[in-house]
Amino acid sequence: MEEKYAIDIDHVTRVYKRDEFEIRALDDVSIRVPEGRFVAIMGPSGSGKTTMLNLIAGIDHATSGRVAVGGEEITSMRERDLAAWRARHIGLVFQFYNLIPVLTAFENVELPLLLTHLNKAERREHVETALKVVGLSDRMDHYPRQLSGGQEQRVAIARAIVTDPTIVVADEPTGDLDARSAEEILNLLTELNRQFHKTIVMVTHDPRAERYVDTVYRLDKGVLAGVEPGKAATAAAAGASA
Ligand SMILES: Nc1ncnc2c1ncn2[C@@H]1O[C@H](COP(=O)(O)OP(=O)(O)OP(=O)(O)O)[C@@H](O)[C@H]1O
Ligand SMILES: [Mg+2]
Repeated sequence: MEEKYAIDIDHVTRVYKRDEFEIRALDDVSIRVPEGRFVAIMGPSGSGKTTMLNLIAGIDHATSGRVAVGGEEITSMRERDLAAWRARHIGLVFQFYNLIPVLTAFENVELPLLLTHLNKAERREHVETALKVVGLSDRMDHYPRQLSGGQEQRVAIARAIVTDPTIVVADEPTGDLDARSAEEILNLLTELNRQFHKTIVMVTHDPRAERYVDTVYRLDKGVLAGVEPGKAATAAAAGASA
């Protein structure tokens, strides 16, 4: 059976110009992520990881090459179409959560839905479901400062999935968390992948994360330096052949 690709990055180069300098953040990178995978992008600081995520999320444009996400070529989309496309297909998770401090957990998660046609009752239903998935039904009325880092990140994940996006893109989602909260977040992302069939692309420095993912893409100085199966893939293959 022919595999469908959630993400198809084809010979992509991204050059940033700063004064007279040119920085090749990504240099002729090609990767294909099949639908339903949980993958990690790893590599040293400055190797182009965030640049890659931004291209996948349609936040940044390739200098050359082609980016297709969910079967749609986004390289040539106009900014207006791209914004609508992004709202439908991409859920974003950041290292420092990026919650709005004056809004409750409920209101933070509701934000992306204010851009949709859903009415208030429908929005409530979606927000409650998302907060239930991340295990925070009892924290709906809390403000970010009343939550632990791990809980804040779970609210941020609820906000990322409340629109039911095709792909969840996470940049160092465990980077600011202690080991235990980090593990909870990795388990939650695994659940979103397995149970809710989200394709997940996660940038991480955390070697422990390799246990959770199907594939690890290694970047080095803007070049794809390696593609390795993660431990989750190895475990699944062992299970299938047993
Ligand atoms: N908007 C920009 N303008 C100019 N240079 C940029 C821009 N964004 C990234 N760069 C440069 O591109 C290169 C790759 O940056 P990127 O943020 O993708 O790295 P990273 O792998 O995410 O690093 P880190 O682990 O530190 O987050 C770096 O040299 C960076 O300075
Ligand atoms: Mg980065």
